[in-house]
This record gives sequence, C-alpha cells and structure tokens, in this order.
Amino acid sequence: MNLFDHPKQRIEQLTEQLNQHNYNYYVLDKPTTSDFEFDALLQELALLEKAYPDYVLPNSPTLRVGGEITKSFQTVEHRYPMLSLGNTYSFEDLKDFDERIKKLVTRDFSYICELKYDGVAIGLRYENGLLTQAVTRGDGIKGDDVTTNVKTIQTVPLKLKGNDFPADFEIRGEIMMSHKSFENLNKLREEDGEEPFANPRNAASGSLKLQDSREVAKRKLDCFLYFLLGDEWKEKTHEERLNKAQTMGFNTGHYFQKCTTLDEVFNFIKTWDVKRKKLPFDIDGIVIKVNEIDLWETLGYTAKSPRWAIAYKFKAERVETKLESVSYQVGRTGSVTPVANLTPVKLAGTTVKRASLHNADIMEKLDLHEFDTVFVEKGGEIIPKIVGVDINKRDGFANKIQFITICPECQTPLIRTDGEANHYCPNEDHCPPQIKGKLEHFISRKAMGLDSLGEGKIEMLYDSGLVNTVADLFDLTRDKLFGLEKIIVGEDGKSKIISLREKSAENILNALEQAKTVPFERVLYALGIRFVGETVAKKLARHFKNIQNLSKATKEELLDVDEIGEKIADSVLLYFSKSEHLEVIKRLVNKGLQFEIQEDLSAPKSTVLEGKTFVVSGVFSKPRDEIKALIEQHGGKHTSSISSQTSYLLAGDKIGPEKLKKAEKLHIPIISESEFLTMIKSNV
Ligand code: IVH
Repeated sequence: MNLFDHPKQRIEQLTEQLNQHNYNYYVLDKPTTSDFEFDALLQELALLEKAYPDYVLPNSPTLRVGGEITKSFQTVEHRYPMLSLGNTYSFEDLKDFDERIKKLVTRDFSYICELKYDGVAIGLRYENGLLTQAVTRGDGIKGDDVTTNVKTIQTVPLKLKGNDFPADFEIRGEIMMSHKSFENLNKLREEDGEEPFANPRNAASGSLKLQDSREVAKRKLDCFLYFLLGDEWKEKTHEERLNKAQTMGFNTGHYFQKCTTLDEVFNFIKTWDVKRKKLPFDIDGIVIKVNEIDLWETLGYTAKSPRWAIAYKFKAERVETKLESVSYQVGRTGSVTPVANLTPVKLAGTTVKRASLHNADIMEKLDLHEFDTVFVEKGGEIIPKIVGVDINKRDGFANKIQFITICPECQTPLIRTDGEANHYCPNEDHCPPQIKGKLEHFISRKAMGLDSLGEGKIEMLYDSGLVNTVADLFDLTRDKLFGLEKIIVGEDGKSKIISLREKSAENILNALEQAKTVPFERVLYALGIRFVGETVAKKLARHFKNIQNLSKATKEELLDVDEIGEKIADSVLLYFSKSEHLEVIKRLVNKGLQFEIQEDLSAPKSTVLEGKTFVVSGVFSKPRDEIKALIEQHGGKHTSSISSQTSYLLAGDKIGPEKLKKAEKLHIPIISESEFLTMIKSNV
C-alpha cells in the first residue's frame, strides 16, 4: 500500500504486527521474523508516527527506545505491601513447611515450583489493559515509581492482549539482566573508564534508576512475572493464573512445574541446582507456592511473608584454601578494610583470590594466623568471605596477624573511635582514596548530579594529575580531556589502555556547565563537610543564606540553627578554619557556582492552588522537583498517576503519549509550564 494512503490504519497494523513479533520472540521464545524485517517495519512505523504524531498508539513498540527523562523518582505507596518470602537451605525445612500446611489443609492440594529469579522486584499496574505504573519494592510499603524506565523493557507489555482481565490490577515479578547483556554493559563501562557492575542484579537495579530512559532501553533488561494480585480473577489456581498471564502477553518464563508430592518438589530443586549453571541469567533458588488460591487465605501471612510459599535457596559453595597475606584497603571515607589474599581456588564458577575480612573485630574472632588454612564461602553476596580456620593445619610457630596502625596510603596513624568497628585514616584532604572519595561525593546524584562523570572517570582525572580538588574540575577543557588515558589491569594480570572518547569529553564539559545552576544547598552538601548531609545542608543554607555568612558563623550561631548540635557545629567550624577549603570555595565562586540561596523553597507563598492536584510529567525548564515545590508552596498537591481526582496534567517536553491520552479520556485539562507559571504568577 502507499504509505500515506491510510496512515492511521497502517500505524495500527504495524503496531500490532511488531508487538506480535515481540511477543513471539520474547515470551514464547519462537521468533516469527528476521531481525532485518523487524527493523524495517519498525523504521516504517517510526517514520509514520513522526509524520502523524496524533495516531501514535500507547502500546507502540517505538516507545521502547525511551526518551522520557525522569529527574527524580517519586515514592509511591504499594496498594498491597510487597512481601518477601521465608528462606530455607534444607530439605528438612521444606518437610516442616509441608507438614505445617497439611495440618491446616485437610484436602488434596498441589505446589507450583518456580525459579527464584535473582533480580529486582517490581510491581506493574494495568488499568484498562494499559501499563500505568511500575514500582520497585523499596521498603515493601513504599517504592520508587520507575514507570518510564520499565516501559523500555521489551518483555513488559504496554498493552495487554485480549480483554478478559480486571479493569485495574497489579502483577509482580522480577527485572533481570542476562549474563550476555551484563557482560556487554561492563565492557562498555570499562572502555569508558567506569567502574563495572559487580553482578547482573546490581546492574539491573542501577539501570532502573537511570534518569534517561533511552539509556535504560540500551541496557536490554528483561522481566519475569510470577504473581497476579487481586481477587477478581476467574482463575482459581496459581498455575492457571500464570498461564493466563502468559496469554495476556506477560513473560512468565517456561520453567514452572506443578508438583503433587514433596519428592517431586525435591527433584525439581535438584534438577535446577544443576541446570541453573546453563541458564542465561542468575537464579538463587526455587520458590515453592501452594497452587490452590483459596488456600492462601486459609494459610495466611506472617508480618513479612506468606505462609503458603517458601524459598529454597541454593547452598553457598564452600572450599578450603591458604591465606597468603592480609592487605588493607583505605575506603573513600577513610575507613580501613582488611582483605585476605588467598591461594587462588575455584568457587562457584569463578576463581577466588581475595576475601574481605571486614574489620579488626572479625579478624580477631577468626583468630587469623599467618598462612592459616581457611574455609571460603560465596553466598548471595559477590565478595566471598572467610567463614573459619582449620586450626589442625596451623603451623605451631605461625604469628598471629595484627591489625595495622598506620595508613598504608599516606602513613598517617590510624584512629578508632570507641564503639566503632572500623579504623579510620584522619588525613581526609591528602590521603589519595579520600581525595577521590570527596570528588565522587561531589559529582554524585544527590550532590551536583554530574552523571557523565562516573567513578571511573574521576579516577582517571585524579590519576592523571588533572584533578585534585573539586575546583580543578571546572578548569577542565576539551583539550585536556580528549584522549585522556587510563591503564587498567584485568583479572588475568594483563593491562590495557583505555582512552576517553570525544563524546564523553563533551558530555563532561556540558555537565560541568549545567552544574552552575545547582542550588546552593546542594552545592553545600556536595562540598562533603563531615556530618553535613542533605538535610543539614538545607538547614544551613536556608539559615545563613550564603557561604560568606556560613563561613564566618560562630559556634553559638551554628548551634542556634534548628537541629544543629555540637558535632555538626564543630565539624563546620573545622572545615572553614582550613585555608585550602576557603581557596577551593573561592575558585568555585569565581567559576559561577551557586553559593547563595535563590529563594526559600519551603516557605508557603499563596493558597491559589488549594484543592488542586497536579500530575507533573515531561521535561521542564527547571528540575521537576522545583516545579513540584512551587505547587506545594501555593497550596496544591501532586501525584504520580492520572485519575479522576487529578485537576491538571502539567505537561513538559517529551511527555509520554499515554499520559496525554489518559488525561484527554478523563477530560483533565492539560497545561504547559508557562500556563502553570501564569496561574501562580500574581501570587509569586
Ligand atoms: S513470589 C508474596 N516468586 O524473591 C510472594 N518471588 O525473597 C511474593 N522472587 O520478594 C513473591 N523469584 O522479589 C516470588 N518466582 C518467584 C520469585 C520471587 C524471585 C523474589 C521476589 C521476592 C523475593 C523473596
């Protein structure tokens, strides 16, 4: 057909066709097209959507490429608390679990055994078949709204298949990163001088919190769903619900199995304890759930977990090896961690050469002696740990290992405050890892938010001698940055040189320019004054208004500030008593950073928005948080999702079409940033 004859129909047709291919590929694992053909159709759709933006459907596969920016993630309350599962490592415990159930349930029942996915838990809400919200676990009661990012995940349906499901429901599952995507991502990160992620779970979790959803789309996350909530379902068993979820378009994995006896459960576990090594992603156990849903109520819940399900965790592998030496790492905050260097040994698929000893107390408890034979375990955590010593194999003349007394990085005597587990190096301004720590804190999201300058790049800049203090960052130029090199030594002992790409250099300079708009309170927090966290920085900024006032404040004046006690006051005084700190601040002031409060964001200004609820979405001329603060200052409220209670949708650039559609459907007025500012203008 001619592309432009019936653009609306063609858009609908392409959307459906591409979504079906995606479903066949990702959910059914049965590809029905070639990559080439798929890309051609996707491109045709993208072109049509560009020409006819009004016809873009809420489930368009082009939305998967991301684009929306999330400045900060809203915390939202779960409609049903996100429970966890009771854990066990033994078949004995499973027998107890089974007996407990049989005491309460007198009729026949069955179990569903599933893989225990080692990823990030997520709750997805669907309203009228459309994905409207994705929330992380958080503390189980409240989590972060990561909808924009989750929408980029191919295996999360934006619109459900069919129409036989409740109008509003939630499904839960796990966001995962495959081994392959994880390796690709880490390779890219290393090339860019970034610290690689320790494991796929951390990588998935970090990816969900990225602000730019386009970046999330590139991370190739996956999502397995395992729990349909609510009692409006016709399906009365968990198995039927999982199958139902699959027909609705969800990826439930193909790995669950119904078991009618405990022996079948044990066999499932044994099989997967072997098979898991060949899976393309990580699992850390098996989840066993009672299949008949009416029994869930009979069995009930503890405060934290259901009594109708349990997680069997695969055992940590344990091996024996020799302690060769103990070395000490100085962390970014000056804390000193002892690390055991071991004779290399194979453990859970990797070669282990080192293990953390945590602190002096733990070393003492193990009573480590030179060249001891030690037991090493690798559990859920990434870093293996020493769990014991084989005293029988100890040489009678071996010396006990003593904790060091001076900093291995800068030779300053270490201190240990009473009641604290860790030893510290007090030389915070001149001890190399601590200098790097200060730089990392400065660039971190809650401080200056210089995302394009990750830890790896900070290391590169520090090691090259270009940056020693936070002020040096603002003297960077394209010439200094471009081609900057770093040598990294791989696990195999081989070293390679990586250099900063032109695009990265450009991104860094742009971010540094942007940093000049970061408000005073965050700049103050970014300076890294001991005990001055985000909240204290806010209080000090609001009270003293600018850096001059703060730097000259007396102890009494500091103590006058609400909730500022001796410890903080002394730390602030000490910070401003050092001329090198004043010098750094002077340079930052000259570079144009904000050292004066702009306006009191918390003070109420008017009640003009009283009774009005806003949903704020898209990209604005100022951070979304500031817009939300303005709403609050004028008596209004803001929420994350649109409902009939919403008074206005405040739409910025790049707002997702779904929000717009929903607002239109519910006849909610859509206003722009300038219309909003006019609303409050006479009251500013
Ligand atoms: S069911 C009320 N099934 O493991 C029961 N959880 O340690 C809800 N997990 O919070 C959980 N795979 O994040 C369930 N097949 C599976 C799972 C699974 C991984 C996670 C989930 C849960 C945690 C408990």
